[in-house]
Amino acid sequence: MKKLKAGILGATGVVGQQFVKILSNHPYFEVTTVTGSAKSSGKTYGDATDWSATNYLPEIVIDMNVLDTDANAILRNDIDLVFSALPASIAYDLEDELASSGIPVFSNASAHRMRESVPILIPEINPDHLNLVSSQQYDGGFIVTNSNCSTSGLVFGLKPLMEFGIRDAIVTTYQAVSGAGRKGVGSMDILGNVIPFISDEETKIEQETRLILGKHENGRIIPAQFDVNASCARVPVLNGHLESVVVQLEGEFSVNQVIDAYNSFSGEPQALDLPTAPSNPIIVRLEPDRPQPTRDLSLHDGDLGMAVKIGRVRKHKNRLNFFLLVHNAIRGAAGASVLNAEFALAKGVLE
Ligand SMILES: NC(=O)c1ccc[n+]([C@@H]2O[C@H](COP(=O)([O-])OP(=O)(O)OC[C@H]3O[C@@H](n4cnc5c(N)ncnc54)[C@H](OP(=O)(O)O)[C@@H]3O)[C@@H](O)[C@H]2O)c1
Repeated sequence: MKKLKAGILGATGVVGQQFVKILSNHPYFEVTTVTGSAKSSGKTYGDATDWSATNYLPEIVIDMNVLDTDANAILRNDIDLVFSALPASIAYDLEDELASSGIPVFSNASAHRMRESVPILIPEINPDHLNLVSSQQYDGGFIVTNSNCSTSGLVFGLKPLMEFGIRDAIVTTYQAVSGAGRKGVGSMDILGNVIPFISDEETKIEQETRLILGKHENGRIIPAQFDVNASCARVPVLNGHLESVVVQLEGEFSVNQVIDAYNSFSGEPQALDLPTAPSNPIIVRLEPDRPQPTRDLSLHDGDLGMAVKIGRVRKHKNRLNFFLLVHNAIRGAAGASVLNAEFALAKGVLE
Protein backbone atom coordinates (compact mmCIF):
# COMPACT_ATOMS: atom_id res chain seq x y z
CA MET A 1 0.00 0.00 0.00
CA LYS A 2 1.29 3.46 -0.97
CA LYS A 3 1.49 5.67 2.10
CA LEU A 4 -0.60 8.84 2.26
CA LYS A 5 1.38 12.06 2.65
CA ALA A 6 0.55 13.72 5.95
CA GLY A 7 1.08 17.27 7.17
CA ILE A 8 1.26 18.04 10.89
CA LEU A 9 0.02 21.53 11.76
CA GLY A 10 1.53 22.83 15.00
CA ALA A 11 4.13 20.07 14.84
CA THR A 12 6.50 21.67 17.36
CA GLY A 13 4.09 21.65 20.34
CA VAL A 14 3.17 18.97 22.88
CA VAL A 15 0.61 17.28 20.64
CA GLY A 16 2.60 17.93 17.45
CA GLN A 17 5.60 16.10 18.89
CA GLN A 18 3.39 13.12 19.75
CA PHE A 19 2.10 13.11 16.15
CA VAL A 20 5.67 13.04 14.85
CA LYS A 21 6.49 10.12 17.12
CA ILE A 22 3.39 8.07 16.30
CA LEU A 23 3.70 8.72 12.54
CA SER A 24 7.46 8.22 12.31
CA ASN A 25 7.08 4.58 11.33
CA HIS A 26 3.42 4.30 10.42
CA PRO A 27 2.18 1.74 7.88
CA TYR A 28 -0.44 4.05 6.24
CA PHE A 29 0.92 7.61 6.62
CA GLU A 30 4.26 9.37 6.11
CA VAL A 31 5.05 12.84 7.39
CA THR A 32 5.95 15.17 4.52
CA THR A 33 5.07 18.55 6.05
CA VAL A 34 5.48 20.13 9.47
CA THR A 35 4.32 23.62 10.43
CA GLY A 36 4.80 25.99 13.35
CA SER A 37 4.37 29.63 14.31
CA ALA A 38 6.46 32.48 12.85
CA LYS A 39 9.04 31.78 15.58
CA SER A 40 9.69 28.28 14.17
CA SER A 41 9.07 28.61 10.45
CA GLY A 42 12.18 28.58 8.28
CA LYS A 43 14.11 26.50 10.84
CA THR A 44 14.71 22.77 10.60
CA TYR A 45 12.34 20.73 12.77
CA GLY A 46 15.37 19.60 14.80
CA ASP A 47 16.27 23.21 15.61
CA ALA A 48 12.71 24.45 16.15
CA THR A 49 11.69 21.72 18.61
CA ASP A 50 12.86 20.92 22.10
CA TRP A 51 11.21 17.46 21.83
CA SER A 52 10.48 17.74 25.56
CA ALA A 53 7.06 16.13 25.10
CA THR A 54 8.40 12.81 23.83
CA ASN A 55 12.19 12.77 24.32
CA TYR A 56 12.24 11.40 20.81
CA LEU A 57 13.24 13.00 17.51
CA PRO A 58 13.00 10.62 14.55
CA GLU A 59 15.60 10.90 11.75
CA ILE A 60 12.95 11.56 9.10
CA VAL A 61 11.98 14.95 10.51
CA ILE A 62 15.27 16.32 11.90
CA ASP A 63 16.16 18.17 8.68
CA MET A 64 12.62 18.89 7.54
CA ASN A 65 11.88 22.57 7.02
CA VAL A 66 9.19 23.95 9.36
CA LEU A 67 6.64 25.76 7.20
CA ASP A 68 4.54 28.75 8.08
CA THR A 69 1.06 27.65 9.20
CA ASP A 70 -0.44 29.15 6.08
CA ALA A 71 -2.84 27.37 3.71
CA ASN A 72 -0.98 28.29 0.51
CA ALA A 73 2.38 27.18 1.86
CA ILE A 74 0.87 23.90 3.10
CA LEU A 75 -1.02 23.16 -0.14
CA ARG A 76 2.11 23.75 -2.24
CA ASN A 77 3.68 20.84 -0.38
CA ASP A 78 1.67 17.99 -1.98
CA ILE A 79 -0.22 16.47 0.95
CA ASP A 80 -3.09 13.96 1.13
CA LEU A 81 -4.31 14.84 4.64
CA VAL A 82 -3.39 16.92 7.67
CA PHE A 83 -3.32 16.34 11.39
CA SER A 84 -3.94 19.54 13.32
CA ALA A 85 -2.40 20.38 16.70
CA LEU A 86 -3.02 24.10 16.48
CA PRO A 87 -4.47 26.45 19.08
CA ALA A 88 -8.23 26.68 18.43
CA SER A 89 -8.07 30.37 17.47
CA ILE A 90 -5.66 29.61 14.61
CA ALA A 91 -7.32 26.31 13.67
CA TYR A 92 -10.76 27.71 12.89
CA ASP A 93 -10.06 29.46 9.59
CA LEU A 94 -7.10 27.39 8.52
CA GLU A 95 -8.81 23.99 8.91
CA ASP A 96 -11.82 25.37 7.05
CA GLU A 97 -9.59 26.65 4.22
CA LEU A 98 -7.77 23.32 3.89
CA ALA A 99 -10.98 21.28 3.90
CA SER A 100 -12.36 23.66 1.24
CA SER A 101 -9.28 22.92 -0.83
CA GLY A 102 -10.05 19.18 -0.77
CA ILE A 103 -7.86 18.17 2.18
CA PRO A 104 -9.13 15.81 4.91
CA VAL A 105 -8.41 17.40 8.30
CA PHE A 106 -8.07 15.36 11.51
CA SER A 107 -8.08 17.93 14.29
CA ASN A 108 -7.32 18.14 17.99
CA ALA A 109 -8.48 21.70 18.25
CA SER A 110 -11.88 22.52 19.70
CA ALA A 111 -12.57 25.07 16.92
CA HIS A 112 -15.06 22.98 14.88
CA ARG A 113 -16.24 20.43 17.48
CA MET A 114 -19.62 22.06 18.11
CA ARG A 115 -20.61 22.26 14.43
CA GLU A 116 -23.57 20.00 13.66
CA SER A 117 -21.86 18.29 10.71
CA VAL A 118 -18.47 17.73 12.38
CA PRO A 119 -18.05 14.46 14.27
CA ILE A 120 -16.20 14.21 17.58
CA LEU A 121 -15.08 10.73 16.69
CA ILE A 122 -13.84 8.03 19.04
CA PRO A 123 -14.21 4.93 16.88
CA GLU A 124 -14.53 2.46 19.77
CA ILE A 125 -17.45 4.51 21.10
CA ASN A 126 -19.31 6.20 18.24
CA PRO A 127 -18.06 4.77 14.91
CA ASP A 128 -21.29 5.73 13.11
CA HIS A 129 -20.68 9.44 13.83
CA LEU A 130 -18.04 9.34 11.07
CA ASN A 131 -20.96 9.37 8.59
CA LEU A 132 -21.62 13.01 9.53
CA VAL A 133 -18.82 14.07 7.17
CA SER A 134 -21.05 13.28 4.19
CA SER A 135 -23.17 16.31 5.14
CA GLN A 136 -20.18 18.69 5.16
CA GLN A 137 -20.16 21.16 2.30
CA TYR A 138 -16.50 20.77 1.33
CA ASP A 139 -15.45 19.64 -2.10
CA GLY A 140 -13.43 16.51 -1.40
CA GLY A 141 -12.14 17.63 1.99
CA PHE A 142 -13.70 17.21 5.42
CA ILE A 143 -13.05 17.83 9.11
CA VAL A 144 -13.06 15.10 11.77
CA THR A 145 -12.24 16.07 15.35
CA ASN A 146 -11.34 14.11 18.43
CA SER A 147 -12.51 15.17 21.84
CA ASN A 148 -11.02 17.28 24.58
CA CYS A 149 -8.36 15.28 26.47
CA SER A 150 -10.37 14.68 29.67
CA THR A 151 -13.50 13.76 27.72
CA SER A 152 -11.55 11.14 25.78
CA GLY A 153 -11.03 9.18 29.00
CA LEU A 154 -14.44 9.82 30.54
CA VAL A 155 -16.41 8.38 27.63
CA PHE A 156 -14.60 5.04 28.03
CA GLY A 157 -15.64 5.00 31.69
CA LEU A 158 -19.27 5.73 30.78
CA LYS A 159 -19.99 3.85 27.54
CA PRO A 160 -19.97 0.33 29.08
CA LEU A 161 -22.30 1.62 31.83
CA MET A 162 -25.02 2.64 29.40
CA GLU A 163 -26.44 -0.89 29.52
CA PHE A 164 -27.28 -0.25 33.22
CA GLY A 165 -28.93 3.11 32.40
CA ILE A 166 -27.07 6.28 33.42
CA ARG A 167 -29.02 8.89 35.38
CA ASP A 168 -26.13 11.35 35.77
CA ALA A 169 -22.35 11.51 35.98
CA ILE A 170 -20.17 13.74 38.13
CA VAL A 171 -16.48 13.99 37.26
CA THR A 172 -13.63 15.71 39.09
CA THR A 173 -10.35 15.91 37.17
CA TYR A 174 -6.71 16.11 38.24
CA GLN A 175 -5.09 17.28 35.01
CA ALA A 176 -1.42 17.18 34.02
CA VAL A 177 0.51 20.30 33.01
CA SER A 178 1.25 18.98 29.49
CA GLY A 179 -2.48 19.33 28.83
CA ALA A 180 -1.97 23.09 28.75
CA GLY A 181 0.69 22.95 26.02
CA ARG A 182 4.40 23.69 26.11
CA LYS A 183 4.07 27.16 27.61
CA GLY A 184 0.75 26.57 29.31
CA VAL A 185 1.31 26.81 33.08
CA GLY A 186 4.07 28.79 34.78
CA SER A 187 6.28 26.74 37.11
CA MET A 188 5.79 29.30 39.94
CA ASP A 189 2.04 28.74 39.67
CA ILE A 190 1.96 24.95 39.66
CA LEU A 191 4.94 23.59 41.64
CA GLY A 192 3.64 22.36 45.00
CA ASN A 193 0.19 23.63 44.11
CA VAL A 194 -3.23 22.66 42.73
CA ILE A 195 -5.19 25.13 40.59
CA PRO A 196 -8.95 24.50 40.74
CA PHE A 197 -9.70 26.15 37.40
CA ILE A 198 -9.03 25.32 33.74
CA SER A 199 -10.61 27.74 31.32
CA ASP A 200 -13.58 26.29 29.36
CA GLU A 201 -12.65 22.71 30.33
CA GLU A 202 -15.76 21.92 32.39
CA THR A 203 -18.12 23.07 29.64
CA LYS A 204 -16.19 21.10 27.02
CA ILE A 205 -16.40 17.89 29.08
CA GLU A 206 -20.12 18.34 29.77
CA GLN A 207 -21.06 19.08 26.13
CA GLU A 208 -18.69 16.74 24.31
CA THR A 209 -19.42 13.70 26.49
CA ARG A 210 -23.15 13.88 25.78
CA LEU A 211 -22.53 14.36 22.04
CA ILE A 212 -20.06 11.47 21.75
CA LEU A 213 -22.43 9.15 23.64
CA GLY A 214 -25.38 10.48 21.65
CA LYS A 215 -27.28 8.90 18.76
CA HIS A 216 -26.69 9.66 15.10
CA GLU A 217 -30.14 10.16 13.58
CA ASN A 218 -31.06 11.75 10.25
CA GLY A 219 -27.70 13.40 9.79
CA ARG A 220 -27.43 14.92 13.26
CA ILE A 221 -26.43 13.90 16.77
CA ILE A 222 -29.04 13.66 19.52
CA PRO A 223 -27.01 14.10 22.74
CA ALA A 224 -27.23 11.43 25.43
CA GLN A 225 -30.07 12.29 27.80
CA PHE A 226 -28.21 12.12 31.12
CA ASP A 227 -26.53 15.05 32.87
CA VAL A 228 -22.75 15.39 33.09
CA ASN A 229 -21.24 17.74 35.68
CA ALA A 230 -17.49 18.45 35.71
CA SER A 231 -15.02 20.17 38.07
CA CYS A 232 -11.47 20.51 36.80
CA ALA A 233 -8.13 21.11 38.51
CA ARG A 234 -4.55 21.38 37.26
CA VAL A 235 -2.04 19.39 39.31
CA PRO A 236 1.78 19.24 39.22
CA VAL A 237 1.98 16.06 37.14
CA LEU A 238 3.74 15.96 33.75
CA ASN A 239 1.45 13.64 31.76
CA GLY A 240 -1.84 11.87 32.43
CA HIS A 241 -5.23 13.15 33.53
CA LEU A 242 -6.69 11.32 36.52
CA GLU A 243 -10.48 11.59 36.92
CA SER A 244 -12.71 10.70 39.85
CA VAL A 245 -16.11 9.68 38.48
CA VAL A 246 -19.41 9.15 40.34
CA VAL A 247 -22.23 7.75 38.23
CA GLN A 248 -25.82 7.31 39.34
CA LEU A 249 -27.22 4.24 37.60
CA GLU A 250 -30.87 3.41 37.01
CA GLY A 251 -30.64 -0.36 36.95
CA GLU A 252 -29.35 -2.92 39.45
CA PHE A 253 -25.62 -3.57 39.24
CA SER A 254 -22.74 -5.11 41.13
CA VAL A 255 -19.09 -4.05 41.10
CA ASN A 256 -18.17 -7.36 39.46
CA GLN A 257 -20.70 -6.83 36.66
CA VAL A 258 -19.22 -3.40 35.98
CA ILE A 259 -15.65 -4.72 35.99
CA ASP A 260 -16.73 -7.46 33.55
CA ALA A 261 -18.33 -4.83 31.29
CA TYR A 262 -15.07 -2.82 31.29
CA ASN A 263 -12.87 -5.87 30.69
CA SER A 264 -14.97 -7.14 27.79
CA PHE A 265 -15.36 -3.72 26.13
CA SER A 266 -14.02 -3.61 22.59
CA GLY A 267 -14.88 -1.75 19.40
CA GLU A 268 -14.46 -1.59 15.64
CA PRO A 269 -10.79 -0.47 15.76
CA GLN A 270 -9.97 -3.70 17.62
CA ALA A 271 -12.03 -5.82 15.17
CA LEU A 272 -10.25 -4.11 12.25
CA ASP A 273 -6.88 -4.51 13.99
CA LEU A 274 -5.97 -0.89 13.27
CA PRO A 275 -2.29 -0.04 13.92
CA THR A 276 -2.93 2.50 16.72
CA ALA A 277 -5.80 0.60 18.37
CA PRO A 278 -4.87 -0.88 21.76
CA SER A 279 -5.82 -4.54 22.05
CA ASN A 280 -7.79 -3.68 25.21
CA PRO A 281 -9.19 -0.14 25.15
CA ILE A 282 -9.93 -0.31 28.89
CA ILE A 283 -7.55 -1.85 31.41
CA VAL A 284 -8.93 -2.40 34.91
CA ARG A 285 -6.47 -2.13 37.81
CA LEU A 286 -7.62 -4.08 40.84
CA GLU A 287 -4.93 -2.82 43.28
CA PRO A 288 -6.30 -0.43 45.94
CA ASP A 289 -4.01 2.47 44.93
CA ARG A 290 -4.15 2.50 41.12
CA PRO A 291 -4.26 3.89 38.46
CA GLN A 292 -1.45 6.43 38.94
CA PRO A 293 0.02 8.77 36.28
CA THR A 294 3.64 7.81 36.91
CA ARG A 295 2.94 4.07 36.94
CA ASP A 296 0.06 3.31 34.64
CA LEU A 297 0.16 5.53 31.57
CA SER A 298 1.62 2.89 29.27
CA LEU A 299 2.41 -0.01 31.48
CA HIS A 300 1.20 -2.99 29.53
CA ASP A 301 2.80 -4.75 26.58
CA GLY A 302 1.62 -3.22 23.36
CA ASP A 303 -0.13 -0.28 25.07
CA LEU A 304 1.35 2.93 23.69
CA GLY A 305 -0.79 5.20 25.84
CA MET A 306 -4.05 4.47 24.00
CA ALA A 307 -5.71 2.34 26.68
CA VAL A 308 -7.73 4.05 29.42
CA LYS A 309 -6.96 2.70 32.90
CA ILE A 310 -9.78 2.29 35.43
CA GLY A 311 -9.46 1.42 39.10
CA ARG A 312 -10.99 1.71 42.56
CA VAL A 313 -14.38 0.59 41.27
CA ARG A 314 -16.79 0.86 44.20
CA LYS A 315 -20.53 0.89 44.86
CA HIS A 316 -22.28 3.36 47.18
CA LYS A 317 -26.09 2.83 47.19
CA ASN A 318 -27.04 3.17 43.53
CA ARG A 319 -23.91 5.14 42.71
CA LEU A 320 -20.82 3.73 41.08
CA ASN A 321 -17.48 5.32 42.01
CA PHE A 322 -14.22 4.87 40.15
CA PHE A 323 -11.01 6.60 39.05
CA LEU A 324 -9.78 6.63 35.48
CA LEU A 325 -6.49 7.67 33.93
CA VAL A 326 -6.02 8.84 30.34
CA HIS A 327 -2.82 9.89 28.54
CA ASN A 328 -3.89 13.42 27.60
CA ALA A 329 -1.46 13.84 24.70
CA ILE A 330 -1.92 10.34 23.21
CA ARG A 331 -5.45 8.90 23.75
CA GLY A 332 -6.56 12.46 24.48
CA ALA A 333 -4.91 14.00 21.41
CA ALA A 334 -2.42 12.75 18.79
CA GLY A 335 -3.09 9.02 19.10
CA ALA A 336 -6.84 9.65 18.96
CA SER A 337 -6.47 11.64 15.73
CA VAL A 338 -4.25 9.04 14.07
CA LEU A 339 -6.72 6.30 15.05
CA ASN A 340 -9.52 8.38 13.50
CA ALA A 341 -7.59 8.63 10.23
CA GLU A 342 -6.87 4.89 10.24
CA PHE A 343 -10.56 4.23 10.83
CA ALA A 344 -11.65 6.66 8.09
CA LEU A 345 -9.27 4.88 5.70
CA ALA A 346 -10.64 1.46 6.68
CA LYS A 347 -14.19 2.74 6.07
CA GLY A 348 -13.33 4.26 2.67
CA VAL A 349 -14.08 7.82 3.86
CA LEU A 350 -10.39 8.67 3.47
CA GLU A 351 -8.84 7.48 0.20
N1 LIG B 1 -1.74 19.15 25.23
C1 LIG B 1 -2.74 18.25 25.28
O1 LIG B 1 -2.71 17.29 26.06
C2 LIG B 1 -3.94 18.42 24.37
C3 LIG B 1 -4.93 17.44 24.40
C4 LIG B 1 -6.04 17.55 23.56
C5 LIG B 1 -6.15 18.61 22.71
N2 LIG B 1 -5.18 19.58 22.70
C6 LIG B 1 -5.34 20.67 21.74
O2 LIG B 1 -4.34 20.49 20.73
C7 LIG B 1 -3.89 21.76 20.27
C8 LIG B 1 -2.38 21.84 20.48
O3 LIG B 1 -2.09 21.77 21.86
P1 LIG B 1 -0.60 21.68 22.41
O4 LIG B 1 -0.74 21.28 23.83
O5 LIG B 1 0.27 20.86 21.53
O6 LIG B 1 -0.12 23.22 22.34
P2 LIG B 1 1.37 23.80 22.27
O7 LIG B 1 2.32 22.88 22.93
O8 LIG B 1 1.27 25.18 22.74
O9 LIG B 1 1.69 23.79 20.69
C9 LIG B 1 1.01 24.66 19.80
C10 LIG B 1 1.52 24.48 18.38
O10 LIG B 1 0.87 25.45 17.55
C11 LIG B 1 1.85 26.35 17.01
N3 LIG B 1 1.33 27.72 17.05
C12 LIG B 1 1.10 28.48 18.15
N4 LIG B 1 0.65 29.71 17.79
C13 LIG B 1 0.60 29.71 16.45
C14 LIG B 1 0.26 30.70 15.48
N5 LIG B 1 -0.15 31.94 15.84
N6 LIG B 1 0.34 30.37 14.17
C15 LIG B 1 0.75 29.15 13.80
N7 LIG B 1 1.10 28.16 14.65
C16 LIG B 1 1.03 28.46 15.97
C17 LIG B 1 3.08 26.22 17.88
O11 LIG B 1 4.23 26.55 17.12
P3 LIG B 1 5.59 27.14 17.83
O12 LIG B 1 6.23 26.00 18.55
O13 LIG B 1 6.38 27.63 16.66
O14 LIG B 1 5.13 28.24 18.74
C18 LIG B 1 3.04 24.72 18.23
O15 LIG B 1 3.52 23.97 17.16
C19 LIG B 1 -4.71 22.81 21.04
O16 LIG B 1 -5.84 23.17 20.29
C20 LIG B 1 -5.11 22.06 22.30
O17 LIG B 1 -6.27 22.59 22.90
C21 LIG B 1 -4.09 19.51 23.49
